[in-house]
Amino acid sequence: MSNMDQSTKLELDRIVFIGRTFEEYLDMFSLSKDSLAGKKILDCPAGACSFAAVGNKQDVDVTAADIAYYHAQEDLLHKGLQDIEYAMERMEKARSHYIWEYFRDTKHLKEHRLSALNNCTDDMKESPERYIPVSLPSLPFKDEEFDILLSAHFLFMYADRLDYQFHVKTLQEFLRVTKEEIRIFPIVNLEGKRYEYLDQLISYLLDIGCTVEEVKVQYEFQANANVMLLIKKG
Ligand SMILES: C[S@@+](CC[C@H](N)C(=O)[O-])C[C@H]1O[C@@H](n2cnc3c(N)ncnc32)[C@H](O)[C@@H]1O
Repeated sequence: MSNMDQSTKLELDRIVFIGRTFEEYLDMFSLSKDSLAGKKILDCPAGACSFAAVGNKQDVDVTAADIAYYHAQEDLLHKGLQDIEYAMERMEKARSHYIWEYFRDTKHLKEHRLSALNNCTDDMKESPERYIPVSLPSLPFKDEEFDILLSAHFLFMYADRLDYQFHVKTLQEFLRVTKEEIRIFPIVNLEGKRYEYLDQLISYLLDIGCTVEEVKVQYEFQANANVMLLIKKG
């Protein structure tokens, strides 16, 4: 966290520091805790998620990477609390775009978002070495440093601002640092529509020898966001 690089750092007001819980990660990536035993995992971008914090307390070896981690822990906690308040106000107006089963209502959702943020920022203080500032599409890790890479709510979802080339470069980098498999959730954009260039991207991945599967998962909060892309290295 101290190694701040001004050229890659995004201004804090441009970052939305909200994250999901460990349990949501298991559900959206269709994973069990047992299946992760003995694996080295990268969560990227991890944002304010508690996957690394809770995982590491349960002997799951997770490293978290995000551009937000160029900022100080206390600034991220403060920004995260503001972002949750703002997101909950907006959520009341956009309720119909979500499926209220996993979360009963906005109060229940807020509890989960606060728990993820607090666990994440507490762990950042205790174990800063687990929280690596990165600026995709590059990663500062060695080839095949991780067994599994998990990436949620970034690629595909923000297709309005991340172009196809960014997606390809990021995936190439994900493949470089990963030994076994990459899981990406979801495969839709913010409007709930399948990523426009997904078939093109899958063809590219097949051409370079990967196997690719679209896997329906139990987790669906944003309507239509219930499929994960599972990419296995050939
Ligand atoms: C919507 S959040 C997703 C966080 C988490 N995976 C989740 O599912 O809750 C998107 C994250 O992408 C990070 N981000 C945006 N641009 C990035 C980049 N170029 N490199 C690394 N992280 C980036 C943001 O800081 C933010 O934490």
